Amino acid sequence: MSLYKFTKSNQMFQRATAVIPSGISGNKNPAFAVPGTFPYFAERGEGCRYWDVDGNEYIDFLCGYGPIILGHNHPAVDEAARKQQKQGSAFNHPTPRSVELAEKLVAMIPVADWVAIGRNGSDVTAYAVQVAREHTQRNKIIMARGAYHGSQAWCRHGIGGLIEADYEHVHQFTFNDATELEDLVKKHEGDVATIILTPYHHPAFGDQEMPAPGFMEEVRRICDEHGIVFIIDDVRAGFRLDMRGSNEYFGYKPDLICFCKGMANGYCVSAACGNREYKNAASRVFFTGTYYTNAVEIAASMACLDELEKTKAIDKMMRMGTMLQEGLRERAKANGIEVNVTGPPTLPFMTFAAETNFRRSQLFSGEAARRGVILHPHHNWFMMAAHEESDIRQTLEVADKCFSIVKKQFGD
Ligand SMILES: Cc1ncc(COP(=O)(O)O)c(C=O)c1O
Repeated sequence: MSLYKFTKSNQMFQRATAVIPSGISGNKNPAFAVPGTFPYFAERGEGCRYWDVDGNEYIDFLCGYGPIILGHNHPAVDEAARKQQKQGSAFNHPTPRSVELAEKLVAMIPVADWVAIGRNGSDVTAYAVQVAREHTQRNKIIMARGAYHGSQAWCRHGIGGLIEADYEHVHQFTFNDATELEDLVKKHEGDVATIILTPYHHPAFGDQEMPAPGFMEEVRRICDEHGIVFIIDDVRAGFRLDMRGSNEYFGYKPDLICFCKGMANGYCVSAACGNREYKNAASRVFFTGTYYTNAVEIAASMACLDELEKTKAIDKMMRMGTMLQEGLRERAKANGIEVNVTGPPTLPFMTFAAETNFRRSQLFSGEAARRGVILHPHHNWFMMAAHEESDIRQTLEVADKCFSIVKKQFGD
């Protein structure tokens, strides 16, 4: 097999740098993977595969960083979008689609008595935090160290253009450390509006971590005792663990939940949901954007959620993800390499036990990309319902080869 080359990707990137700041902004910039060993520009997708501008074909385990949950170009979702497109999408008013999607989510998600629809994950995490502040009339936000809640200034992950004041009311603690969390709450007694967490810990550049037994129950207790709003940011994991919200998979109840990726198979829709206690505060926060009510994306979201339910897609993604996780452990062992495969099967990730600087992960995933499999070196991966056993088998064959390359270069 001849290894992939990225000639046209590179040429396109040169063109891009002339007219777009940094060529490709944010986490899709080549610097966030390994420059030169990944494609930079995609051309088309079908099922669990996509093709880059050089015509190289990939099995996709990044899924557009999460939104592709059924498969690229999914017929039922695209048909729903096309049908709505014929009627129009951007009006002076919302369409009934907004109400229908809100009703669907309220029926599906136990915590949800109301739903606010946005476009991106950052829209709804920022909104949920504002709802918490409005409800409590307090300032402070507590989040876990290393967690990502979006690109907005408040969650301090944006790089550049920030000032101290953007996050002076944001405080961090170590995920799963309820004592540190409670100490922080006591230190800011009476001024903590919200504790915002992802349903389990999925930091970039790190192993994924499940909630320790009793930890989320402790968060719930602390919130109840101190009048704090408990927000779950389910933007990344939503609809890959449980259709009722990822908190249900683990068995705890937040006050507000945010969804985005996974709810519309690539169409841009997000949602903040909450229980009725927060509905008044939610009504008082000015939440809008030019495209928030666009009907095409909302129709696509309903079709996506229907399809996920109808086909029991999570069960299938769990099965395929388990096959991938177990296969990676076996192949690594057979090559004399120790790996940490972490996270739920539908959002797997792998690091190398002997790693100190991600060089093994970068070599491994770069070599995988050149052989037609996209496995990110620093960010967790995603399963989609279009992955079949044959795709996982092909991936494990590629992984086997990549482990042997890592072994040869690093020895462990
Ligand atoms: C957990 C989590 N929250 C929020 C966001 C922000 O979503 P968006 O990039 O759509 O604004 C992301 C995006 O990766 C995310 O993973």
